[in-house]
Amino acid sequence: MPDQFHARPLQSATLARVKPSPTLAITQKASELAAQGRKIISLSAGEPDFDTPDSIKAAAIAAIQGGKTKYTAVDGIAELKQAIAAKFARENALPYGPAQINVSPGGKAVIYNALMASVDPGDEIVIPTPYWVSYPDMAIMVGGTPVFAATSVETGYKLTPAALDAAMSSKTRWLILNSPGNPSGAAYEAEELAALADVLRSYPHALILVDDMYEHLLFDGRAFATLAAVAPDLYPRILTMNGVSKSYSMTGWRIGYAGGPPELIRAMAKVMSQTTSNPSSISQWAAVAALSGPQDFIAERCAVFQRRRDLVVAGLNAAAGIDCPVPQGAFYVYPSLAGVIGKRTPDGREIQTDQDFCEALLEAEDIAVVHGEAFGLSPAFRLSYATSTELLTEACARIQRFCASLR
Ligand SMILES: Cc1ncc(COP(=O)(O)O)c(C=O)c1O
Repeated sequence: MPDQFHARPLQSATLARVKPSPTLAITQKASELAAQGRKIISLSAGEPDFDTPDSIKAAAIAAIQGGKTKYTAVDGIAELKQAIAAKFARENALPYGPAQINVSPGGKAVIYNALMASVDPGDEIVIPTPYWVSYPDMAIMVGGTPVFAATSVETGYKLTPAALDAAMSSKTRWLILNSPGNPSGAAYEAEELAALADVLRSYPHALILVDDMYEHLLFDGRAFATLAAVAPDLYPRILTMNGVSKSYSMTGWRIGYAGGPPELIRAMAKVMSQTTSNPSSISQWAAVAALSGPQDFIAERCAVFQRRRDLVVAGLNAAAGIDCPVPQGAFYVYPSLAGVIGKRTPDGREIQTDQDFCEALLEAEDIAVVHGEAFGLSPAFRLSYATSTELLTEACARIQRFCASLR
């Protein structure tokens, strides 16, 4: 019998253009080697190694015991929207009322819901490189076209006004701006955002998605700056997105949120009403406790990350051929591999790409990091230092040994 069912791939043509998350692929490869008994140091994770604070866990347990276990309002309970509004007012001087707030199952879902709600075929989404891996693929999933705006190690991986202007067009639907950035750790100063705002005023049709996920992981006493506060005239077309995943070590709870124009917020709720419905009721109550409770542990944890950053930057710059700029925030470094490309491993293999480097490093020294190509800017790699000082010290020593072995 002819097999009609298998005549066509099960995956849609749109999804076939989407890459699976490359960071997950490295994690997979590292676990395979670990299963063979190798002692892999994995520096590919995108989450803090700290636990969720006990006061937040207690709020979730109380929510379960108090029967807060049913469907909630699709885009967030009133109490959480209130806590988010208070957070935006307190920390960012941004006035977002409940009708301007969306809560989704994770920051990732906030971004997807926003794009799904607003992008039509042919719309362009401007994404600075290096980018967080999910932006371009989400743009493709909703039928949009990613357009890349390059930064470089020389500009500290920050977008210049000229590079932004070159990427924007009459077709631009969104610009995505992420600071502190994944994978670079680069954070914009208020003046730098003001200079980008000048360019954005020439493109009044474009929306701006500001990803502030790493807001609280900012070093050296810097003040955090966000576009809607720096350029209040752009506020009506900005979606300021944030979440509890990184600041409160709550990656598994899946709560992200955003403040933005009410019309967009309503459209995002419509997407949720036909797909996920509300984020977990229990996680929402935990997020209320996170945003309204004690905040001191955030600075303590940030200080730990800053010390690890210093250790890793020094350790990597001591490796032959690696040039590691000092990031201002997040928990990643993004060293350039320009000085390594073209060298050979002791067994004669030429390092032609950053992927070659990362594979050879994993083989030779059991260190897992993610190649820069995955983030759209090569040759480089991303190392996450959300792990212990001991492991980071050992990892740097192994990377130095590996680089010294290259000819
Ligand atoms: C820049 C950036 N934005 C958003 C997210 C999404 O966070 P969540 O875990 O809340 O979906 C991440 C997570 O890695 C991220 O790095």
